[in-house]
Amino acid sequence: MIKPIFFKDNQLYIVDQTLLPTKYKLIKIKDHIDMAKAIKRLSIRGAPALGIAGAYGLTIGLQKFINENKTSFFKQMEIISSELIDTRPTAVNLAWGIDRVCKLAKANNFLSVDKIWNLMLQESKNIHSQDIAMCESIAKNGYEIVPEKGAVLTHCNTGGLATGGLGTALGVIIRAFQNGKKPHIFVDETRPLLQGARLTAWELMEEKIPCTLCTDNMAAYLMRNKSIKMVIVGADRIAANGDTANKIGTYGLAILAHFHGIDFYIAAPTSTIDKLTKKGSHIIIEERKGSELSRIGSQQIAPINCKTISPAFDVTPAKLITGIITEKGINYPPYNFFK
Ligand code: MRU
Repeated sequence: MIKPIFFKDNQLYIVDQTLLPTKYKLIKIKDHIDMAKAIKRLSIRGAPALGIAGAYGLTIGLQKFINENKTSFFKQMEIISSELIDTRPTAVNLAWGIDRVCKLAKANNFLSVDKIWNLMLQESKNIHSQDIAMCESIAKNGYEIVPEKGAVLTHCNTGGLATGGLGTALGVIIRAFQNGKKPHIFVDETRPLLQGARLTAWELMEEKIPCTLCTDNMAAYLMRNKSIKMVIVGADRIAANGDTANKIGTYGLAILAHFHGIDFYIAAPTSTIDKLTKKGSHIIIEERKGSELSRIGSQQIAPINCKTISPAFDVTPAKLITGIITEKGINYPPYNFFK
């Protein structure tokens, strides 16, 4: 399993996911500017991985201010935090990881700056290792509900590349196979940036799990004709009432699953559940640039200057979600996470 983010000889690296699966290239992250660029262009992506990237990005970015006085160090912390959070507004884990590191720094503001910085680095590493453990628990909590046979449909990429560990929805699928279940996995290609085709199909094939790539608009056909028994996806932000933002196309899948009487599950760590967002309509949806739609790689596929719309995510209402699998167990409706 490829690790999307790691240290080697005290240097932080990420794998450039925009080039996978055809090229494996590492990007050196020297400061928060490198990290912000990498997040914006989706070199690192997936909500849990963004939480880890945000925490490391802030800490690495503050390294050059370690010799400044405390006031200036804390001021830089605010500036860098908002620069990083602004890169991708929908996945709550990004702000969550950054906030967690900032809170620890503020709670220890009586220490010297270098000691505060060391605590921040340690906290970022904790976020990383806890994410690995959360993936394991999500997989353990969820694998039993995967059907023994028939087929499962998934969307976007929720595997090791999107997290610190095994993955969320894909982790559940992988663990089900390790426990002898044998459903066939259909993988939505996930337009426009093809995370399903490029990353999920590849990760499943690496795990030797039988899978078939399909275009996003085949879902209704597959549900009617190919024994789809379950849809399982990840999440970028879950509101307190269970409404869930995930990759564009997820909402449509949930409606189709409902129509066909198919179970529709979300798998995500509790760090993706946002206490401050009461319902889905309050979630900010990231709008990506139109060229991601009108071109595939360097190839123009639509008329030049054609108008485009490119929301990166949509919101699935809680009432369409059969269950939400987290590291703490499976939640069923009615969802009320912060009662
Ligand atoms: O735009 P992306 O690739 O960051 O979108 C990722 C998704 O929508 C995933 O489904 C979600 O982050 C869950 S990842 C475990």
